[in-house]
Amino acid sequence: MSPEPFQMLDKDMRAERTSFLLALGLLMAGIRSVHCLPENVVVKDQRRRVDSHTLASSNTDFAFSLYKQLALKNPNKNVMFSPLSVSMALAFLSLGARGPTLTEILEGLKFNLTEIQETQIHQGFQHLLQALNRPSNQLQLSVGNAMFVQEELKLLDKFIEDARVLYSSEAFPTNFGDPEAAKSLINDYVKKKTQGKIEELFKDLSPRTVLVLVNYIYFKAQWKTRFDPKHTEQAEFHVSKNKTVEVPMMTLDLETPYFRDKELGCMLVELTYSSNDSALFILPDEGKMQDLEAKLTPETLTRWRNSLQPRRIHELYLPKFSIKSNYELNDTLSQMGIKKIFTDADLSGITGTADLVVSQVVHKAVLDVGEEGTEGAAATGVKVGITSINNHIPLSFNRPFLIAIVLKDTQSIIFLGKVTNPSQA
Ligand SMILES: *[C@@H]1O[C@H](CO)[C@@H](O)[C@H](O)[C@H]1NC(C)=O
Ligand SMILES: *[C@@H]1O[C@H](CO)[C@@H](O)[C@H](O)[C@H]1NC(C)=O
Ligand SMILES: *[C@@H]1O[C@H](CO)[C@@H](O)[C@H](O)[C@H]1NC(C)=O
Ligand SMILES: *[C@@H]1O[C@H](CO)[C@@H](O)[C@H](O)[C@H]1NC(C)=O
Repeated sequence: MSPEPFQMLDKDMRAERTSFLLALGLLMAGIRSVHCLPENVVVKDQRRRVDSHTLASSNTDFAFSLYKQLALKNPNKNVMFSPLSVSMALAFLSLGARGPTLTEILEGLKFNLTEIQETQIHQGFQHLLQALNRPSNQLQLSVGNAMFVQEELKLLDKFIEDARVLYSSEAFPTNFGDPEAAKSLINDYVKKKTQGKIEELFKDLSPRTVLVLVNYIYFKAQWKTRFDPKHTEQAEFHVSKNKTVEVPMMTLDLETPYFRDKELGCMLVELTYSSNDSALFILPDEGKMQDLEAKLTPETLTRWRNSLQPRRIHELYLPKFSIKSNYELNDTLSQMGIKKIFTDADLSGITGTADLVVSQVVHKAVLDVGEEGTEGAAATGVKVGITSINNHIPLSFNRPFLIAIVLKDTQSIIFLGKVTNPSQA
């Protein structure tokens, strides 16, 4: 309980108030306990645990790599996505990939193929899906996959079976010759699975599309200690040195895990959901946003989680916000080394012939943070076609911040983003 970090904090906060801020950041992680992982085969227990750790660490690596690409492409904009949704959609696609196309997808997803085999990766996702979809009365979480298949397209039995068993994917016969009807079928499915949060995953589908793979995530959790809406007031949020906006700022007085990271220059606060899952908020020091972004790694995340200690925070200020995003990921994924699926793809594991190519990967996400809790949804669509603390520290998250929602036991990052302007939906 050394007072020293808090004096530093106090100074930071004063500095923040007297001078306008450079880009700073905050990272929030919601952490979900998965109370019992599927361990039905006792003999394989040890092996499976190793696999689930490898899966989590690769997925986290992919999450931060994709974050860096999206942040670079969208400077000064909010960034919000579900890394888990993108990873799972691509792993699902990889079931049908062969040769260098397959290697590229798996390496692009940050798997080290000398350490983990393809089958272990798919089993890892299978177990993850089962763990995440286990019912809980304190938390709503659902994750799933589906495929929409051109009526005449003959899929290999093995692909259909693997999709069903490993990715719990149903196959819906679809007439892409009627693009409007096909689009409605897919978008309505995603809308229903995300409780209406993701309304139009695909803006258009060309008649050349023959297959669409979809992954969706829906998440809703309530804070254990809710913010009182009566205390929410309009307050300034410093978007940049020159720009300030008014946002609804929630406030809370509570004892909660806290950590001052001197090495990276940021403060972390963890808020708990009623399910005992939690959210981690990280506020970098002035001018440290870019340094922090560069150091976002699986190791940093682990170090933060191991360093949090309970502390009283009398004035925590957190903006209430709702952020929506919409990305076309084909160029970003190409830059991350996943190229062949868009050009000279070998997706012969899907139909037995090598004439399929991915024409688009789309991703949409929504995250709402309010007095009651957090609600988020995301979906990824892969379109396949034919070639052709001191006791008196006010801690105010009133400047650009980063967000990650991490599921505790499976260590999956289900949402990751940057809020530069909460007033911009
Ligand atoms: C993959 O794992 C092997 C063995 O653990 C290691 O030598 C190699 O450096 C790793 N490759 C990458 C790209 O991390
Ligand atoms: C911010 O203001 C400074 C001077 O006050 C100006 O030089 C700079 O161009 C402004 N930056 C932006 C992004 O408007
Ligand atoms: C949360 O943790 C507390 C204390 O460890 C426990 O009493 C409570 O039952 C837990 N709640 C849930 C939903 O797991
Ligand atoms: C990605 O999509 C955009 C817009 O449809 C297109 O211009 C671009 O060429 C695509 N990139 C790849 C690698 O297919």
